[in-house]
Amino acid sequence: MPEIKFYKHENIPMEMHKVKIVQKLNLLPVKDRVKKMDEAGYNTFQLHNGDIFMDMLTDSGVNAMSDNMQSAMLRADDAYAGSETFYRMNKKLTELFEMKWFLPAHQGRACENILAIRFVKPDNVVVMNYHFTTAKAHITRLGGLVEELVIEDGLKSKSDLPFKGNIDLIRLENYLKENKDNVAFLRIEAGTNLIGGQPISYENMKEACKIAKQYNITTVLDASLLQDNIYFIKVRENSMKDKTTKEILRMIADLFDIIYFSGRKFGFARGGGILVRDEEMFHSMEDLIPMFEGFLTYGGMSVKEMEAMTVGFDESIDFDVISQAPQFIKYTVEKLDKYGVPMITPGGGLGAHIDAKEMLKHIPQEEYPAGALACAMYICGGIRGMERGTLSEERNRDGSERLASMELLRLAFPRRVFTLSQAEYVIDRVKWLYDHKELVGGLRFVHEPETLRFFTGRLEPTSNWPEKLAEAYMKEFGEDQ
Ligand code: F0G
Repeated sequence: MPEIKFYKHENIPMEMHKVKIVQKLNLLPVKDRVKKMDEAGYNTFQLHNGDIFMDMLTDSGVNAMSDNMQSAMLRADDAYAGSETFYRMNKKLTELFEMKWFLPAHQGRACENILAIRFVKPDNVVVMNYHFTTAKAHITRLGGLVEELVIEDGLKSKSDLPFKGNIDLIRLENYLKENKDNVAFLRIEAGTNLIGGQPISYENMKEACKIAKQYNITTVLDASLLQDNIYFIKVRENSMKDKTTKEILRMIADLFDIIYFSGRKFGFARGGGILVRDEEMFHSMEDLIPMFEGFLTYGGMSVKEMEAMTVGFDESIDFDVISQAPQFIKYTVEKLDKYGVPMITPGGGLGAHIDAKEMLKHIPQEEYPAGALACAMYICGGIRGMERGTLSEERNRDGSERLASMELLRLAFPRRVFTLSQAEYVIDRVKWLYDHKELVGGLRFVHEPETLRFFTGRLEPTSNWPEKLAEAYMKEFGEDQ
């Protein structure tokens, strides 16, 4: 996105698209939102979308499609086997990634399941910059473990390092030297989801893969958030600024043995897949696709979505498209940071992240401050965010609580969805909540599932703080807000 210069106004992010189809929004009065939050078991995943004003839960499967993506859906070739749609998709992926072998899957976590089954044996370790919830759940389900080697700054809220998702190369080398026989693979997540959408530099990926190769370790890239990461490499990594986004993508791809992605993010539709460099490795996973996903030419995806995604891949490296969310995030993060709200800085991809541990110091981590903040945000503005903290962790093997390194509320910016006035509304309501933070209390589980408890768990507030918070909000804004 070129920076559009203003005459008598500070420059602001400009949308390089216009609205063609819209969905009506509904702002329930605050009293009703308190009731809905209670019915949802104080878990924002359990809210109904019709009761939400700003859905900032995720960027997954909710990015706006372009006219070109929608029109491509019309030529989808419905066939159980040998669909032309699959060959078009495969060709586009080969053109972009130069990896010949492709296994389609219904979404990102399905790829993680296939990779875990293929590579992870009990007590094996997957080494990574940082884990993602579903990636880790598939590894631990099979008795594996994860070793996270993100640089120290990656876990600090405030930093001016441009690539907080980098892996610590010294620790990586030492770890592999000692444990190479027990390592299933190296997994690089670009960018990192759970620590504020922070990117990893090309140079760091290159060095990490070089070390892994020295020890004969398979290298795997989680490319679900690669579009954001490519944007940051182009604007933050000096040696890469003159490369095109397509060149950057290819340079990254060349480093890895395997690349998987969620097509709900990369490709802006709904699906996923695994790209494999080596034919034998491909064949070693091929039979798992018909068993868990669907035949090898659709892998559980709708052919319409596959057609849209094929166009979406090109849009995932279109600089105009991939600049929009990071620029909106930067705008939001900088305004809130200036106000004093503890934000994860610098702004990354995916969403604006609030450090709930810092903001709600009075709530012990065992009472899920980020989960509580997510509930408070819905009550105070109808804004749905996602807890990315202790609730999103699983308990240790001995049943004790695993306190997350970071306790974040994520306000996602799905691509091309929100306008700047909507971002301003969110900024305003976060400011109000920050000024009334002492009114937010903790949560405790009423129903706690063993795996991925943040999706389906039910909680309750530790006091009647939601009602008190709503009263203060009503006093400020009136009953109908
Ligand atoms: N890897 C990363 C980095 C992700 O962000 C996600 C999904 C996945 C893998 C799994 O992909 O959802 O298609 O199965 N992240 C979503 C989110 C759920 O909201 O952050 P999936």
